[in-house]
Amino acid sequence: MQGPSIAQRFPVVLGTMNLAGEGRPSREVALATIHAALDAGVGSIDTADVYGLGEHDAHFAERLVAEVRRERAFVVSTKGGVRRRGEAWEHVGDPAYLRGACEASLGALGVDAHDLYFLHAVDPRVPIEESVGELVRLRDDGRIVRLGVSNVDATQLRRALAVAPIEVVQNEASPFVRLDPEVEATCRARGIVLQVYAPMGGWRAGRVAHEPVLRCVAEELGVSPFEAIVAWTIARGWQPVCGASRPENARSSARAAAIALTDAQVAAIDAIVPRA
Ligand SMILES: NC(=O)c1ccc[n+]([C@@H]2O[C@H](COP(=O)([O-])OP(=O)(O)OC[C@H]3O[C@@H](n4cnc5c(N)ncnc54)[C@H](OP(=O)(O)O)[C@@H]3O)[C@@H](O)[C@H]2O)c1
Repeated sequence: MQGPSIAQRFPVVLGTMNLAGEGRPSREVALATIHAALDAGVGSIDTADVYGLGEHDAHFAERLVAEVRRERAFVVSTKGGVRRRGEAWEHVGDPAYLRGACEASLGALGVDAHDLYFLHAVDPRVPIEESVGELVRLRDDGRIVRLGVSNVDATQLRRALAVAPIEVVQNEASPFVRLDPEVEATCRARGIVLQVYAPMGGWRAGRVAHEPVLRCVAEELGVSPFEAIVAWTIARGWQPVCGASRPENARSSARAAAIALTDAQVAAIDAIVPRA
């Protein structure tokens, strides 16, 4: 691929899980949140077929994104390989299922090809080579432009790379959740974009405003502790996938892409991250 990577062009990605799941905002606020992120310079939106209220509400987030994409251009990443079964989130990685999921997401998004398509999670019953192998065939069929894997450990990533040109990895990381250093090292060595999801801690985000180091760094910079986290992830060379269910939070995370942390500030936030 020539030119700057998608991470360099779009340092912050807006995630749409909270626009679609339990406690989601009104449709009007959800659409306004996506527009606010785009207006503030976000150029990439993350979604998944499973983001909705349950198995009967699959593709809800993808349809929201499609509605905005009819009006303006941006990169969309989506994912397949996880489905809801009642309360459970089931990992499904067999090739036939993934082909159907990928095609269904194309329909929901109203496009002929996915800009970026992730294997959402590894199905323990299916070798990862078989799952990503089907994504390679979908790419060869012109249904996917770039391939990604999510929620992988270093061994799974290496096995996927042996059979598929993976360009993006999306794993969880925040000041409260440690990223696997081996995954990070593999991404760096192979020139793979490393997206970190739930950078504010996801369900732990209530801790952000009370964390003393984050408060101190934020105060030094004159920004919010949430914005300090976004800046920290970018300083680490990651591409944060930030959740928001209201426009002001989407704008705040987008704005944070312009904040430069000193090495000491990066090290201070690094030191909060649990070792295990
Ligand atoms: N690959 C995967 O398996 C996977 C798993 C989970 C998530 N994801 C992706 O990651 C995205 C983000 O995850 P997440 O939403 O769970 O966690 P998050 O990014 O850590 O956000 C958690 C909460 O923090 C608040 N927040 C975010 N930015 C803020 C800001 N600048 N100022 C103040 N508050 C802010 C938001 O509250 P409000 O909602 O009130 O705005 C948000 O709900 C998802 O939308 C999804 O796209 C991927």
